[in-house]
Amino acid sequence: MIFKQKTNGQLIGPPKALISTRTEMGAFLFFRRRVGRKRGIKVAVTISIKEKAFDQEGRKTTVLENIQLSIAPGEFLTVIGPSGCGKSTLLKIIAGLDSDYDGSIEINGRSVTAPGIRQGFIFQEHRLFPWLTVEQNIAADLNLKDPKVKQKVDELIGIVRLKGSEKAYPRELSGGMSQRVAIARALLREPEVLLLDEPFGALDAFTRKHLQDVLLDIWRRKKTTMILVTHDIDESVYLGNELAILKAKPGNIHKLIPIHLAYPRNRTTPDFQAIRQKVLSEFEKTEDLEYAEGSGI
Ligand SMILES: Nc1ncnc2c1ncn2[C@@H]1O[C@H](COP(=O)(O)OP(=O)(O)O)[C@@H](O)[C@H]1O
Ligand SMILES: [Mg+2]
Repeated sequence: MIFKQKTNGQLIGPPKALISTRTEMGAFLFFRRRVGRKRGIKVAVTISIKEKAFDQEGRKTTVLENIQLSIAPGEFLTVIGPSGCGKSTLLKIIAGLDSDYDGSIEINGRSVTAPGIRQGFIFQEHRLFPWLTVEQNIAADLNLKDPKVKQKVDELIGIVRLKGSEKAYPRELSGGMSQRVAIARALLREPEVLLLDEPFGALDAFTRKHLQDVLLDIWRRKKTTMILVTHDIDESVYLGNELAILKAKPGNIHKLIPIHLAYPRNRTTPDFQAIRQKVLSEFEKTEDLEYAEGSGI
């Protein structure tokens, strides 16, 4: 039996009339499923962590346990969980900053064993070089005199809305501006995934909201796969198209919630509030409620 493949990769079978037996139809469906698995939805990031433990005062403490997660290209995953549940540890493992765990991380089919430009990382505090200007900080180890680099830096300065501040030094920037420089610096390396660890946690509410929109604008334009960790439920629902709720002790995924709301989102709509409420009630189901206190909910 001949199976054709359309140019878009979708398989088409023989006309139904030509399928004489149930067995043949079964064979076709089986074949389509198998090929579909290979050619169908691509996976940008595969996380498989059996266990991550730390030595704490001479005792082994399991911090993360049995985390299995696949993230499709261009997805925006937000990860929410109480303070101390292992969010930063998880992100560091994905970034290749911590390889002392039992499991594996793959980005676009290649395993992560060390930090690299495939994994951009944005920390809560911006970590800019104080002696370099905005554009020099973005270029960092790349040569700003190279016209190709300069052109990309200029483009990113536009995207993160820093036009006019190219020559400013970090001491002249607000917290929000500094974080935008850090985001531009990560994006210049064209990462396959951008990892953000509570990137707006230290900013005031107004700046935070503004930067959330800047980030969504970047995501829309660059289609970069994003994993953003936060302890702010509003932020997680506003940004993500997939949301993972972590529970503590040991940290693992309590619930995955897809968020099908169209962008740009409006926090005041009943749909937004309904999802927010759902996330909150799932959050409350995570066993260790003492952890939820003071976690921004
Ligand atoms: N380097 C380390 N050594 C020992 N324990 C650590 C270390 N880093 C993190 N931990 C512990 O692991 C747990 C998770 O930490 P972390 O990933 O920073 O949590 P979160 O980012 O969710 O607040 C905490 O109990 C923390 O004390
Ligand atoms: Mg953290």
